[in-house]
Amino acid sequence: MALAFLYACTIVQLTVTMGQAPVSTATPAPDHITLTWTGDPATTMTVTWRTDTTVTSGFVRYGKGTDPGNDAQQAEAQARAFTSDLGTSHIFSATLTDLSPNSQYSYRVGDGTHWSEQHTFTTADPEANTFKFLVFGDSQSPVTGSDPYGIWRETIQNAFKANPDADFFVNVGDLVDFGQVEAHWDAWFAAVEGVIDTIPAMPLSGNHESYGSRDTWKPEFFTAHFTLPRNGPFGLKEQAYSYDFGPVHLVALDSQGFEQRRYGDILSIQQSWLESDLTTSHKQWNIAFFHRAPYGVKLNRDEAEVRNAFCPILEKHHVDLVFNAHDHGIKRTHPIKSGIAKEKPSEGTIYYVTGRSGIKTYEDIEEGEHSAFFYAPLEQPNYFVVEGTDQKITVKTVLQDGTIIDSLTIEKPKADTFMGIPVQF
Ligand SMILES: [Fe+2]
Repeated sequence: MALAFLYACTIVQLTVTMGQAPVSTATPAPDHITLTWTGDPATTMTVTWRTDTTVTSGFVRYGKGTDPGNDAQQAEAQARAFTSDLGTSHIFSATLTDLSPNSQYSYRVGDGTHWSEQHTFTTADPEANTFKFLVFGDSQSPVTGSDPYGIWRETIQNAFKANPDADFFVNVGDLVDFGQVEAHWDAWFAAVEGVIDTIPAMPLSGNHESYGSRDTWKPEFFTAHFTLPRNGPFGLKEQAYSYDFGPVHLVALDSQGFEQRRYGDILSIQQSWLESDLTTSHKQWNIAFFHRAPYGVKLNRDEAEVRNAFCPILEKHHVDLVFNAHDHGIKRTHPIKSGIAKEKPSEGTIYYVTGRSGIKTYEDIEEGEHSAFFYAPLEQPNYFVVEGTDQKITVKTVLQDGTIIDSLTIEKPKADTFMGIPVQF
């Protein structure tokens, strides 16, 4: 019944979106300009953008420093055709390599005739051993009205204004309300201009990225728009992946086993990959992200399948923090090991439910089991600031207006290492 209602809503939404012949909003001028990492954050940067199909080649012109026109170097982009409900566009992507660590660069993208404005980014400092990133729960919003995704725009723009030193940001799925309706992505990307072209985005998909007109599918629009690490399991490239930043190993998983059941048991496929990935991680901190919350807040919702698939592996390898979404409420659990709440962070994994960064709220939420902090973000959206060093990590839960409503600090002595691998003497 719920799924039938969802499909009915989807068709209504498509009718609204596609009342006239579908027309792509892509033009010869680059838009959706996006930074991600597919390599070392200290020496690489991946740049992705969109044009219409009249543009057949793409380049990133870039240079060290921020002087206007400082773009003596050039990287040629790979092009791929992307067909959405609004027609076909071209998506270009190039990875800049051999960059200097801890350095500011300026860049613009285009085909030699149509160029974007100049943007800047800063490469990571491998010596600093510090990190700071922003986390956003569901930003999904309708595309009706005069300012679609305006709440999401205000949330991320406020968050970046308050944290201009953030190294990157993460969306924990349900970035958009209808993942296979391009108008939603147009509105989403318009909202993040000035942020996503300055610091990398490392997002993951939620159930709404799977929603098409009559059924649920792989999150094809999501993986078309973002160029992400391709180190995940076969068949789930860019839907599950991992990367390192400073003293942190970060893992993104796809919890949409239900929506993608036609492709096999994707939770099971990720289990062996996750086990291997965490076994080979020797970073001081491990942090994981996936959309559906194993310790959620929505009434009458229990993600037992996801909890049983991922949590034993995450807790076995003592992943320090897990960020989930989907329930549009805010929760921090006590440290959990094998379903039992523990006293100290060293004894278990702490799970967050990340509230909402867009317009959609749920009133039927409660703190549920193992809760150490709970908040219903009905009045305004929220985000998280995660920062630290190789010995300390702090997570602040922040409302859109800057009010800090929860703060957690974990301290962990630096491990003795031999050739980068922790050892015990
Ligand atoms: Fe969701």
